[in-house]
Amino acid sequence: MRVVIRPDQEDVAKWVANYVMARINAFKPTAERPFVLGLPTGSSPILTYKHLVALHKAGELSFKHVITFNMDEYVDLPREHPESYHSFMWSHLFRHIDIAPANVHILNGNAPDLKAECVAYEEAMKACGGVELFLGGIGTDGHIAFNEPGSSIQSRTRVKTLAYETIVANARFFGGDISRVPKMALTVGVGTIMDAREVLIIITGQHKAAALEKCVEQGVNHMWTLSAVQLHKCACLVCDEDATGELRVRTVRYFKGLEKVHMELLGHGSATPRIGSVANSASSQDASVAAPSAAGQPRQNHLDQDFAMHVAAQASKPGRSASSVGAGGEVCANCKCHVAAK
Ligand code: GLP
Repeated sequence: MRVVIRPDQEDVAKWVANYVMARINAFKPTAERPFVLGLPTGSSPILTYKHLVALHKAGELSFKHVITFNMDEYVDLPREHPESYHSFMWSHLFRHIDIAPANVHILNGNAPDLKAECVAYEEAMKACGGVELFLGGIGTDGHIAFNEPGSSIQSRTRVKTLAYETIVANARFFGGDISRVPKMALTVGVGTIMDAREVLIIITGQHKAAALEKCVEQGVNHMWTLSAVQLHKCACLVCDEDATGELRVRTVRYFKGLEKVHMELLGHGSATPRIGSVANSASSQDASVAAPSAAGQPRQNHLDQDFAMHVAAQASKPGRSASSVGAGGEVCANCKCHVAAK
């Protein structure tokens, strides 16, 4: 598991948006081979969606061949309600991009048969070839999607009763009135998220610090369901400094140092790169990344994830924007991405 630490939530959002863009563009999606993207709601991804919309409007990113699956939806809240996750997604993202409405999947919390709705959702994901990248957030109690404490690590899409802590946390979206917050939701399961080929989680703010500590420094535990991603082959938590408040200084230093070395191996660190890029191996998503090639032999292939990390890191520098296509600015000698000075 990787942990990327950025200064603040704005920087996290920019990093994540550029990462998602780089992953989609590197995938080169087509109608026959679409990019399947899992998406969250909540306040955490709002800034990321803003940046994704900006990248789309700048002509850097198209969602024409992207299929999305949202994580969850309230039960019995009308689709048109301003706080439904349908409304949230259309107002923050879908309305502003070139996604085909038929490619958008959001659970229907008003379905006559909620169980059948959940089964069909899992089948639809499977029919699309599975989720390539699941973007997520985290609740203060460490939940992912609506997989509240005690959810099975192997759970699939299903109906869930919300935890009291979640109802209280979400009351801010319902005029602070707990009685107006739906008490049930449909949610993908922890197992559903674990099936994605990659998981990327946004964690910002001091109020998430305890949950981050549990998920990074403690073991896998169903009471903090995000901790399950420790078992994922390709998971990355992107957090701001505030969210790291409960981590040990040593843990923070470790992940920051690791990222620095990783970027150097990719050819964009402060030190002179010793090799062309990181190893093209599955282990490259582990915390200890970037096994070098045989002495002096530059490696030519980035993993898509390495390429995306590198674009995200470059684009996050002040006054920069990233483009994986098109000309201008610095061109990375290793992977030929373009990092344009604004
Ligand atoms: C809800 C959503 C989660 C989200 C969480 C955190 O519970 N179902 O997917 O991660 O809220 O929300 P926020 O980002 O607003 O803190």
